Amino acid sequence: MVSFGLIGVGRQARWAHGRAILHSGLGRIVAVCDADEDLARRQAAEYGLPAERAFSRYQDLLDCSEVEAVTIGTPNDLHAAIVIAAAQAGKHVLCEKPIALDTAEALAMLEAVRRAGVRHMTAFTYRFVPAMRYLRAVVQAGELGTLRMVRSRRLMDWPDTDLGWRQVRARAGSGDLGDMASHRIDFAQSVMGPVRRVQGVLRTFVPQRVGPDGHSASADVDDWCAFIAEFEGGSVGVFESTKLARGYGMGDQGVDAFEIHGSEASARYHLATPHSLEIGDSGGTMCTVPVPDSFRAPIGAGAPLSLDPGEAFRENQMYEFIDAIRMGRECSPSLLDGVRVTAAVDAVLRSAQSGCAVDVPVIQ
Ligand SMILES: NC(=O)c1ccc[n+]([C@@H]2O[C@H](COP(=O)([O-])OP(=O)(O)OC[C@H]3O[C@@H](n4cnc5c(N)ncnc54)[C@H](O)[C@@H]3O)[C@@H](O)[C@H]2O)c1
Repeated sequence: MVSFGLIGVGRQARWAHGRAILHSGLGRIVAVCDADEDLARRQAAEYGLPAERAFSRYQDLLDCSEVEAVTIGTPNDLHAAIVIAAAQAGKHVLCEKPIALDTAEALAMLEAVRRAGVRHMTAFTYRFVPAMRYLRAVVQAGELGTLRMVRSRRLMDWPDTDLGWRQVRARAGSGDLGDMASHRIDFAQSVMGPVRRVQGVLRTFVPQRVGPDGHSASADVDDWCAFIAEFEGGSVGVFESTKLARGYGMGDQGVDAFEIHGSEASARYHLATPHSLEIGDSGGTMCTVPVPDSFRAPIGAGAPLSLDPGEAFRENQMYEFIDAIRMGRECSPSLLDGVRVTAAVDAVLRSAQSGCAVDVPVIQ
């Protein structure tokens, strides 16, 4: 059993971290931390922990010798300091995306985990959707031929309400770009290779958002982003993401489409159909292909996955982290993948500002 401390027990931590750890049968939660002391206490009670295992300062949780691994589910501006402190305390780290506000921060995090020799993972959760796992295998088996183009669209309809830290650049880094497009950049890099140059355009269509009590809060991050990416080796990609696509629905509704075109065939993924892909050969039509059972199975020795596909892939993300800790192997995706995505996000931000294409640095 791996003993976990949860740092930041907001929505994502409770849903994707705590629940998956408990479901796995391979991990237990021994401490929680949240700046909101009431929330920390409530979560500790829900996990059956004594009140003294509910911390409001992450440094105190890291002093807890029983904690072997931490999940970091705080707002983005806190990830770097917490990851670095956790690594220095010898804890394995699963950090939420986007891992950092900029590339310099992200590189400092990578250096800290490497120096400490701990396991490190970025929560690019959608890599674990069965259809995305299968899509990567189809590409790697060469079934699409030489890869030429990717196209990613993540379109949802969220109301114009106050998003809290998410709409403040100093806390979030960016808006839809880091929040949703970061997942797709990661997936694209995992199949196409590194992004080397980008050209982006960003918009903030709703600069004032309304809180529950009617107050108005300003937003300075993108609520629509689009960019063209050039990958090493010559392939290209087109990405778009927004939560202002009226009528498209929230969350796992909406459009989440990712397609790849190779010299021999095309393949298309939709989050709405996580257990199938559409694949079409040159001269043919796009046909539905079921995802084989092996891509719907738990990673490592994890317990059988939940029947709800929206929960199952989040469980598999945690199984990957636990399995890597138990086996002493690298996590996939690791913090290195998180740094590479941060570098691409930074380049899109600079490109949108300058109106010019921007090179993405090579990060090893
Ligand atoms: N991988 C995914 O699919 C996915 C989905 C949603 C969110 N996320 C990421 O998860 C992270 C959290 O998002 P969320 O939606 O859960 O946000 P949230 O606001 O619901 O939760 C953040 C929590 O962190 C706590 N916190 C703030 N400062 C803290 C501190 N100094 N120490 C400890 N706790 C502190 C807050 O009180 C809050 O409870 C973000 O990085 C977000 O981008 C990832």
